[in-house]
Amino acid sequence: MSATVNVNGTITDGATASISVFDRGFLFGEGVYETIRTYNRLPFLFDRHMDRLRRSAARIDLACPLDDAGVHTRIIETIAAGAAEGEAYVRLLLTRGVGDISYDPKTATTPSLVIIVKPLPEVPAEFQATGVAVSLVSVVRNHPDSVHPAIKSNNLLNNALAMQQALQEGTYEALMRNYQGDLVECSQSNFFIVRDGTALTPPLDAGLLEGITRNFVFEVGAAIDVPVAEAVLQDGDLATADEAFLTSTTREIVPIVKVGARTIGAGQPGPVTLTLLAELRRTAAALNRTT
Ligand code: PDD
Repeated sequence: MSATVNVNGTITDGATASISVFDRGFLFGEGVYETIRTYNRLPFLFDRHMDRLRRSAARIDLACPLDDAGVHTRIIETIAAGAAEGEAYVRLLLTRGVGDISYDPKTATTPSLVIIVKPLPEVPAEFQATGVAVSLVSVVRNHPDSVHPAIKSNNLLNNALAMQQALQEGTYEALMRNYQGDLVECSQSNFFIVRDGTALTPPLDAGLLEGITRNFVFEVGAAIDVPVAEAVLQDGDLATADEAFLTSTTREIVPIVKVGARTIGAGQPGPVTLTLLAELRRTAAALNRTT
């Protein structure tokens, strides 16, 4: 895999980059992360990602050692050091750092800040054209009194187990319920249905990651008079949905045409989904215009 990596300010290629086995990120998954993408080779919605990183970090009593400008500079330098052209995938990881094998935060005093840059894995155009199938998995999204889903945690075992079920079923994503049995989000993306022209997504207090793209869809919808709202969603809502889609930084909007055995709406990407996708792309390109 071609990647360029910045470990605490030192840039190397992906094969050379290394981190101590005593880093708490490795030992315990004790850290937080962001996945950022570029449009026009510039990080998109960088301020929002930093804001969420700091909020995630604060929830585990961790502070980012650099200010936003410092992190931005490191990202730009890491992108520039790589040979790849085109849009970049940027994974920003902040961990507790190296210390004793202990849960005591005081025994690791210097956080690690790692930036992994690689070519953005583009969503195949056919997925947007024909839509994808997702699995409704038995793995439940973390209870908010456990690792709160609002923490974009490096400890992703629960998400990985959910996605393993989807992979076994040969589907694109794993849709999870929360501990109350309501639909909540996917293993790496937020979930929406469309009913009667309105895009609906589970509320934050259902226990989910407040996706940057999810929030952006509210703004994009408002700009083109497509209503976007929060609503508690349950299994039964899949039967009455006209359309469904998922959102994430790297995937933008991907139409969902099947959840488990159930076909959504007409079984093809719907007009509201495609309109929101087109407007999201148009707005993103305009915001990251370089000239
Ligand atoms: N995943 N929900 C979960 C559990 C996620 O991991 C993600 C992002 C999202 C969407 O958030 P955003 O729109 O801010 O990307 C929702 C990223 C892309 C990842 O894990 O790499």
